[in-house]
Amino acid sequence: MPDFYAPKGVPDYVPPVSRQFAAARNGLIAAAERAGYQPIELPVFEDTGLFARGVGESTDVVSKEMYTFADRGGRSVTLRPEGTAGVMRAVIEHGLDRGALPVKLVYAGPFFRYERPQAGRYRQLQQVGIEAIGLDDPALDAEVIAVADEGFRSLGLSGFRLDITSLGDANCRPAYREKLQAFLAALPLDEATRERAEVNPLRVLDDKRPEVQALVADAPLMADHLCAECSEHFESVIAGLDALGVAHVRNPRLVRGLDYYTKTTFEFVHPGLGAQSGIGGGGRYDGLMAQLGGQSLSGIGFGIGVDRTVLAAKAEGVELATGGRVDVYGVPMGAEAKAVLVGVAGKLRAAGIRVDLAYGSRALKTAMKSADASGARVALVLGDRELAAGEVVVKDMVAGDQQTVTLDAVVESVRGLLQG
Ligand code: HAM
Repeated sequence: MPDFYAPKGVPDYVPPVSRQFAAARNGLIAAAERAGYQPIELPVFEDTGLFARGVGESTDVVSKEMYTFADRGGRSVTLRPEGTAGVMRAVIEHGLDRGALPVKLVYAGPFFRYERPQAGRYRQLQQVGIEAIGLDDPALDAEVIAVADEGFRSLGLSGFRLDITSLGDANCRPAYREKLQAFLAALPLDEATRERAEVNPLRVLDDKRPEVQALVADAPLMADHLCAECSEHFESVIAGLDALGVAHVRNPRLVRGLDYYTKTTFEFVHPGLGAQSGIGGGGRYDGLMAQLGGQSLSGIGFGIGVDRTVLAAKAEGVELATGGRVDVYGVPMGAEAKAVLVGVAGKLRAAGIRVDLAYGSRALKTAMKSADASGARVALVLGDRELAAGEVVVKDMVAGDQQTVTLDAVVESVRGLLQG
């Protein structure tokens, strides 16, 4: 038994799954970069007030799930539970919103929520997120959603669904909220649910208990109470998605766990994942920047759960990282041969080719087994005879044939095989 374990609810990614994880994260980032999003690197902890004000005191994320502590200087800091508030803080702090709009940013990394751990629900979760800040253009909403959709598809995923709705804005939501609250007040709800209806009535619509679901089946829905402007915005987003060929389902009962959303709101759901089926979600947040002390600009973005993307790939039987961990594996017979192969490996790496060697002193048979296990396409074998002749055996691990080439010609010969 080891002396130490990873903290409860926190996943480790070790080989070979770590390659799948990295491929998912890198593929999602690449999809964002193809649409012109630039990387932003932010602190993992922030002033606690940022999340309380930005994400919303009444959310579970803020009221129950934050890792908050006083640092040694007595400041209250919190491990970031999500990325949007931190991005907004940085955009305001560095005046990025004073330049060309929209500001398009992509980020990746760990986030922390003290949730009850279960399959697909972790206390340290990993996201790739994007934010497009500064314009309220429905074409931008469609782009953000399409980046997520294309990101998933570029990884080979297809078994997911995109739910989308509009949550209205400061113009139409208050009246709807009152209507919903009046509806909920007339229902025989328990005390805790009544209280929730007072603070955040939308969340009652998301109550998973069947008896509550039955009671709210006829509840008024925001989608039916949008003002003309929100309705027009939403229809334009839908038209944009259609033009981009992004399949979607209107789901007027969609409720998100964070308070800053307005207008377009969406979630990617993967039925292969069981209870934790949300593989990504996001939406527009019109009031967030002003609420955090910046100017009054809107924005839209998403966060994709990388952990859940890896699980979704597994559920679909999709290999995220294909091929071996290296292209070439060197097998030296003896110390002198090893010194030569180390040099060859250096040259190959400088030429952009991935190389590993059999270190230690291994018999040919064991070393060839390692070459096989590495997934390398090419093995380089260097024995006494080749050493004396200034040559090396270049073995094609797929075709099984081999040729002997001079040391000067190794890079070229290997490149030929890899490209062939
Ligand atoms: P979120 O829906 O809270 O949104 O999280 C985004 C994604 O992170 C979820 O869809 C899920 O895949 C993943 N996720 C969340 N919690 C966990 C967990 N405990 N374990 C594993 N995965 C998890 C946000 O965080 C927003 N900041 C997204 C956004 C960006 N909205 C606008 N811009």
